[in-house]
Amino acid sequence: MSAPTTTNAWAENQRIPELSPTDVLVKLHAGSLNYRDLVICQGKYPRKVIEGVVPGSDGAGEVVAVGPAVSRFKRGDRVVTAFYQDFFGGAAPTEANSDKALGGSAHGTFRQYGAFDEQGLLPLPSSLNYREGATLSCAALTAWNSLNGLQYLKPGDCVLTQGTGGVSLFAIQFALATGATVIATTSSNTKAEKLRRLGVHHVINYREEPNWGAKAKALSPQGLGCQRIIEVGGPKTVKQSLQAVAPGGHVAMIGFLIGFEKDEDHPSFLEAFSRMCVVRGIEVGNRTQFEEMIRAIEASGIHPVIDPTFFHLKDLPAAFQYQYDQKHTGKIVVSIE
Ligand SMILES: NC(=O)c1ccc[n+]([C@@H]2O[C@H](COP(=O)([O-])OP(=O)(O)OC[C@H]3O[C@@H](n4cnc5c(N)ncnc54)[C@H](OP(=O)(O)O)[C@@H]3O)[C@@H](O)[C@H]2O)c1
Repeated sequence: MSAPTTTNAWAENQRIPELSPTDVLVKLHAGSLNYRDLVICQGKYPRKVIEGVVPGSDGAGEVVAVGPAVSRFKRGDRVVTAFYQDFFGGAAPTEANSDKALGGSAHGTFRQYGAFDEQGLLPLPSSLNYREGATLSCAALTAWNSLNGLQYLKPGDCVLTQGTGGVSLFAIQFALATGATVIATTSSNTKAEKLRRLGVHHVINYREEPNWGAKAKALSPQGLGCQRIIEVGGPKTVKQSLQAVAPGGHVAMIGFLIGFEKDEDHPSFLEAFSRMCVVRGIEVGNRTQFEEMIRAIEASGIHPVIDPTFFHLKDLPAAFQYQYDQKHTGKIVVSIE
């Protein structure tokens, strides 16, 4: 079969550019939605977005053609896309190696075929299918980096997560596989039941318990607090997160689900000082961490939590609506056959 020359991408048919020597042409089989993709489509994303961008931060597919200098992959290999195409190692991406973020500053994964530099792809974990693999690039790596990026999470540590979105559910699965105690918040008692079935030790409904931070600390082993907090809410939840953190613990500043507005009693930087904790900004993660995470997924037998409602590429608006309405638990997967 000769390599295809056009691809259906979200909303249009595009020409596939000629492969450069180090390019790999991937037949994408699935992508998944991240909160970021929704915000980009709403035109509210605070970072660089190229004109007419093909959305999609995550993707998995099969190699159908390779440029002459490609050495990492061959035709038929199953691959996942890296969110940052050029961020291979180091604590945080620099301006130079964060310039190609899929679905924002570079075309994303909601298309049938995509050409990627071989350095921007990783092997799909052998234990996962395409739909599962299509959930890893952004949410899973963010969770992995939040737990392990500065210091590895240890058995016996305590992790607090917020809500039942992609990042939090991956953090829950990685933390449980490490042998940590997990405390999770959610908005609904139905979702609480799903969290308990996943193995979460304590669940707090944040709608019923506005002081969930202090409650989480009380529930943590010996009431010492949590060694990691997965902070996805933003300025309006960080005060509670700081109530829950253990001395020496890390608050991973990841998201802004409730927006950017601050309350009047928003904590100052002194709060981190008095609680003797690390407040760490997270930007997904690098390729070395991705490789580490893949090994951990294969070794632990983790399968990503995927919402049972699947969407096809042509139904992308419906998938975004489903995400916007917060009907999902875990990752919303979009199939691209
Ligand atoms: N910094 C980074 O590198 C990075 C990477 C990935 C994502 N993010 C950010 O992290 C956040 C989460 O991303 P995601 O992909 O996991 O989102 P998602 O899958 O869309 O998760 C949404 C879930 O968050 C929960 N939620 C909503 N409002 C909440 C609130 N007030 N308090 C606590 N939980 C609330 C809801 O769960 P319940 O109904 O169960 O409460 C909802 O289902 C987003 O802001 C995203 O932009 C950042």
